Amino acid sequence: MPDRDLLPTECLMTIAGTGSYVPERVLTNAELEKSVETSDEWITTRTGIKERRIAATGETTSDMATMAARRAMEMAGVTAPEIELIIVATITPDTIFPSTACYVQRNLGAKNAVAFDISAACSGFLYAMQISRHFINTGNRKTALIIGAEKLSSIVNWSDRNTCVLFGDGAGAAILRRRSTDEAVHEPQVLVTVMGTDGTLTDILNVPGGGSALPITAENAHLHLNTIHMQGKETFKAAVTNVTAACARAIDLAGLKPSDIDVIVPHQANVRIIDAAADRLGIPKERAFTNIHKFGNTSAAACAIALDEANRTGVIKPGNNVLLVAFGAGFTWAASVVRW
Ligand code: UT7
Repeated sequence: MPDRDLLPTECLMTIAGTGSYVPERVLTNAELEKSVETSDEWITTRTGIKERRIAATGETTSDMATMAARRAMEMAGVTAPEIELIIVATITPDTIFPSTACYVQRNLGAKNAVAFDISAACSGFLYAMQISRHFINTGNRKTALIIGAEKLSSIVNWSDRNTCVLFGDGAGAAILRRRSTDEAVHEPQVLVTVMGTDGTLTDILNVPGGGSALPITAENAHLHLNTIHMQGKETFKAAVTNVTAACARAIDLAGLKPSDIDVIVPHQANVRIIDAAADRLGIPKERAFTNIHKFGNTSAAACAIALDEANRTGVIKPGNNVLLVAFGAGFTWAASVVRW
């Protein structure tokens, strides 16, 4: 039985730059206490979230994606015409079509890029990274821009305390490039990415309405079908199980042991999920980078924003073994080991 996660060739891709953007507006737990029956104490102890960012009126997913992209391009020293591929991972696209990636391409003036969106919920950024790997490894494209961007405030039911306290808006980006052939050049190397999907669990976490299966009408508008619906406990359990398994597999395929991982950059859904997975893997939880207290769960953007912050603040150092991991609706999951 061939192993789908093993590639016949080594990965020729490097992460040349990272960037992120979050809106200015901060929504605190104290403010949410005024609109739903909740408390700062409950939100903090159950999730680790203290505040989240909310996009301004008229600020779109593509606006945030463009800001994050510009910062990643600046770090990588890449100009817009050099970008040959743009993938935006989002569940809150500006419009059903065209794709958010098309708006980003226009905003950047990246006229040589082919651009499209992918929908893999919170795992989207790592899915985009693995898709880019195939383009870059085959020589089809040299430089890719991947972005996780979300305006989740537009699909939250602000009267549902089970979900409205969890989510926020923002974007994270990375420039991926073919690695230099010069051995003296030090560049991060993506060693391994594993991905998984379980489509039998689509009902546990979804936005049931607003698509072609269940359009929003004047009759059903009051049911909030076009907002996030989640069975929290079931999602929590599936997240811990699949995140742990995917990380163990990625570490193994990279030829490493859990103790070799210097930094974990996980999806930021719940600090208890992160701690539980680190514990099961036998990696000290202090090695997991978290910024969930500031930004909440930003779905496809979360892992990307965390990667950029950990990179810019020096938490990730050259030579570190970095484990990226994400889990989301579908269910979908992915884990990646990068030698920084
Ligand atoms: O990013 C994609 C993946 N998403 C996730 O991975 C999220 C996974 N799930 C979770 O993080 C957690 O399940 C939640 C944070 C969503 C919920 O935490 P929990 O410990 O699983 O709580 P629960 O849903 O079992 O609810 C416990 C109690 C309930 O009250 P009763 O029935 O015990 O009386 C809820 O009604 O907490 C209540 N509750 C709240 N209380 C105050 C739920 N939300 C709130 C709230 N404030 N905001």
